[in-house]
Amino acid sequence: MKALVYVGPGQKALEDRPKPDVAAPTDAIVKITRTTICGTDLHILKGDVATCKPGRILGHEGVGIVDKIGSAVTAFKPGDRVLISCISACGKCDYCRRQMYSHCTTGGWILGNSIDGTQAEFVRIPHADNSLYPIPAGADEEALVMLSDILPTGFECGVLNGKVQPGNSVAIVGSGPIGLAALLTAQFYSPAELIMVDLDDNRLAVAKRFGATATVNSTDGKAVDAIMKMTGGRGVDTAIEAVGIPATFELCEQIVAPGGTIANIGVHGTKVALHLERLWDRNITITTRLVDTASTPMLLNIVRSKKIDAKLLITHRFKLDNILDAYETFGHAADTKALKVIIEV
Ligand SMILES: NC(=O)c1ccc[n+]([C@@H]2O[C@H](COP(=O)([O-])OP(=O)(O)OC[C@H]3O[C@@H](n4cnc5c(N)ncnc54)[C@H](O)[C@@H]3O)[C@@H](O)[C@H]2O)c1
Ligand SMILES: [Zn+2]
Ligand SMILES: [Zn+2]
Repeated sequence: MKALVYVGPGQKALEDRPKPDVAAPTDAIVKITRTTICGTDLHILKGDVATCKPGRILGHEGVGIVDKIGSAVTAFKPGDRVLISCISACGKCDYCRRQMYSHCTTGGWILGNSIDGTQAEFVRIPHADNSLYPIPAGADEEALVMLSDILPTGFECGVLNGKVQPGNSVAIVGSGPIGLAALLTAQFYSPAELIMVDLDDNRLAVAKRFGATATVNSTDGKAVDAIMKMTGGRGVDTAIEAVGIPATFELCEQIVAPGGTIANIGVHGTKVALHLERLWDRNITITTRLVDTASTPMLLNIVRSKKIDAKLLITHRFKLDNILDAYETFGHAADTKALKVIIEV
């Protein structure tokens, strides 16, 4: 089968690989129909993710059709159309029992990381009963690809952890796919103010279309002043960090209002200053989280009932044969205006 392989830092290739087979009774083999590329795949290609070794098939998002199941799989059978979660979960360990699937002792984020992933014709899914979701009949499968990772990430790590409330003010720093997913799902709670911050005017224009009440281009270094002005000098009740660099976390520290919450989503590779000399008396909360995908069944209902249009996030489409072009387009988002690229297999 064809598969996109991480060859080493800065190197990837479309290779011929053997089709995977069931290795444990709880495994399923899924024939991929659609997958996509995540910002995290670009992190891997830069060599930032030590757990992902050269030779790995990348990808942790997608939908497909069950091809084969292990003897212990009871929730799915060959022919079922399924959504693949980026998180594999046994459902039985202490963390899984607390719905902290991201920390499953025999799962978590392993797909396209420590085991082969979804940017291929077939993928082996461990703990299939708890890591796949049935696709409702008539659902738009392309839209559902947005549910493997980015919508649960924006919702769980940003909106839920950030305690977004009706009438509150929210700033989301980073208007990439994850920040935009937080923007879409924050609107479940009707915040009064939804301020999006980015360096890229195109992405801020997209944010406006997705429901942002205001946008701030922080290139001039004056984002704090702008946001303070917009909030009557108070700052925001929820500041969501959706970039993953020190500057954007520190911006969140500067704009959080007394009693507010900083919800970090970004993957950070370097240390960040915690300004307790300013924050110690402000009654704030700081949260961090790896997406658990515990909200996936709820988000499936939301997308199916068209409360949000997940397809808005899709800007480009490619065939698996042209996945290197898809990486090129996704990797140069400022020029190509790419958000999510769909790869048809
Ligand atoms: N916690 C989790 O479980 C989880 C899951 C998935 C992704 N992530 C992380 O979430 C982050 C966002 O993911 P994405 O796919 O949207 O990434 P992305 O790179 O597509 O988007 C980041 C956005 O931040 C903007 N940006 C960069 N520097 C900025 C600055 N100084 N000020 C303001 N904006 C700036 C960029 O223009 C871009 O639009 C990444 O760090 C990713 O690794 C975390
Ligand atoms: Zn991802
Ligand atoms: Zn578990």
